[in-house]
Amino acid sequence: MTALSTDRIVAVIGAGTMGAGIAQVAAQAGHPVLLYDAQDGAAARGRDGIAAFLAKSVERGKIDENDRKAILDRLTVADNLKDLSPAGMVIEAIVENLEIKQNVFKDLEELCGDDTILASNTSSLSITAIGAALERPGRLVGMHFFNPAPLMALVEVIHGLMTDTKAAETVFDTAAAWGKAPVHATSTPGFIVNRCARGFYGEALRVYQEGGADPATVDAVMREAGGFRMGPFELMDLIGNDINVAVSTAVFAAYHNDPRFMPSLAQKELAAAGRLGRKSGAGWYDYGEGAARPAPHTAPDGPTPKGVIVEGDLGPAEGLVQLMEDAEIPIQREKSLEDDRAGALILDDVVLRLTDGRMATQVAADEESDKIVLFDLALDYEAATRIALAPADQTAQHAVAAAAGLFQAIGKAVSVIDDVPGMLLMRAIAMLANEAADAVNQGVTDVAGVDTAMMKGVNYPLGPLAWADRIGVDRVRTVLANLGAVYGEDRYRTSPLIHRRVAGGRGFHD
Ligand code: NAI
Repeated sequence: MTALSTDRIVAVIGAGTMGAGIAQVAAQAGHPVLLYDAQDGAAARGRDGIAAFLAKSVERGKIDENDRKAILDRLTVADNLKDLSPAGMVIEAIVENLEIKQNVFKDLEELCGDDTILASNTSSLSITAIGAALERPGRLVGMHFFNPAPLMALVEVIHGLMTDTKAAETVFDTAAAWGKAPVHATSTPGFIVNRCARGFYGEALRVYQEGGADPATVDAVMREAGGFRMGPFELMDLIGNDINVAVSTAVFAAYHNDPRFMPSLAQKELAAAGRLGRKSGAGWYDYGEGAARPAPHTAPDGPTPKGVIVEGDLGPAEGLVQLMEDAEIPIQREKSLEDDRAGALILDDVVLRLTDGRMATQVAADEESDKIVLFDLALDYEAATRIALAPADQTAQHAVAAAAGLFQAIGKAVSVIDDVPGMLLMRAIAMLANEAADAVNQGVTDVAGVDTAMMKGVNYPLGPLAWADRIGVDRVRTVLANLGAVYGEDRYRTSPLIHRRVAGGRGFHD
C-alpha cells in the first residue's frame, strides 16, 4: 500500500464544481487540505459550499457534529500558489485548457518538493501532452473524478506515456484509501467512461432519428427493462444537450472521425435551438411550469394466451419460461427445428423471437412468416416491468395484440416500437460491450477495469462485458454482424476481442 499518508497535505487548485468536491473528499479522508483558486474569493466560496454540504450531512445523520468541525478545520483557503509548496499531492481542477494547465504544473514543479505527486482532474486533455511541458513528467498522473466528487465512487487513474508506475500506484492507492473505486487507464481520448458510454446515447439517438421510438418510450424501456437509473434522453437533458454534443464531438474528432463516435445531428439541432435540457427549461422534454412528461407507448391489453410452445433455447430470455409457468400459462417445450435457429415462443397467432440485430421484417422474410414479432433484451426478465416489441411489416395486427397479451400475462407493460434493427436495449448493450471490448483490446484498461468504471462512474446496473457474458458473447457478435449488415457502416464493426473470445469459446470474465 503506497497511499499518501493522511498527515501529508493535499492541495487542490481550482475551487469550482470539481475542485471543491475533491477538496471535501480529501479532508473527509483525514488530510490537511489547501484550496486555491486564481479568482478572488472563489476558494472561500468553495469552502462555504463544502460547509453547507457538511451541515446537511449532519442533519441527515451521515456524520456527527464533531466530524463536521474536524473536516472543516482541516480545510484551509490558500491565497497564493506559493502556499501550496508543502503539499504531498497537488490535484489540479482548473479550466480545461492545455496551455493554462501546463503553466500551472510548471510553476508547481518549481515550488513543490521532489516527492510531490502532481495530479490533474482533466476530463479530455492528454496527460502525456500536459506532462510534456514538465522537466519530470513521471510524477504527473491523471486523477479523474466524477461529478459530484463526494458522491461518485469512480476515479480513473490516468497513465500518460511518461508517467511513473509508482506515482500512478500512489494515486490509485490514495483514491482507494479515500473510499473511492479507482481504475487504471492509459491516456487516450475519453479515457474509459467518456469513451465507452457514447453508445448509450448514440444508439438511442439513431433509433429516434429513424423514427423507431419517441424519447419517453426509449427512456422507459432502458429503465424498466434495462435496469438503468435514467434513460438516455432524460440523462442528456440532465447533463445538458450542449455539453453532451460537445463531448461527443470532441471524442469523435479525437478518434479521427471514427464513425463509432459520430455525433447525432438531431441532438446538435436541439442544442442549436437552445433546448439544452433541464437548465434551459426544455430539451428532449419540457420542464416548464406544469409541464407533464409524455407517457411511453404502452400497448392496450391483448388476449390472454391459452398456451405457448417454447421451441429451442431462448438463451438470455430463458427466464421467461419460469415466469410463464408462474402465471400458469400451459407450456409445451420442443427442440429447435433447425439447430442454428434461436429459440422462439410460439402462440396460435404469433412467433416471438429475441432480437438478433436483424429487423423483424427481415426475419419474417427469411422465415416466410406473417407471424413474426421480435422482443427486446432485458437485464433480468423477472425484474423487468416493461418489454419492447417490434412487429414485422408483414405481421398482422392481431399477432401484435397476441404478443402483447403474452407479456402482459406475466406482468409486463409492453411498448410496441417501429421495426429498427437490434431494437432498443439489445443494440445499445451490444455497442457498449463492443466499445468496452475495444478499450480492453487496445490496452486502455482491463476487463474488470472497464466494468467497474461503467458501474461506478455512470451507475450502469452491470458492466458491459459482464452483460455480454450474460447475453453470450457469440450472440453479441451476431447482433453486431447483423447491425453491420443492415447499416453497412464501419460504426458497427466488431471488436477483434469479441471475435477472439468467441473463437476461444470463452466469455470475458472466464
Ligand atoms: P469550474 O469552472 O467549475 O471551476 C474551475 C475553477 O478553476 C474556477 O473557480 C476558476 O476560477 C479556477 N481557475 C481557472 N484557471 C485557474 C488557474 N490558472 N489557477 C487557479 N485557478 C484557476 O470547472 P469544473 O467543472 O470544476 O472543471 C474543472 C476541471 O475538472 C476541468 O479540467 C474539467 O474538465 C474537469 N472535470 C469536470 C467535470 C464536471 O462534471 N464538471 C467532471 C470531471 C472533470
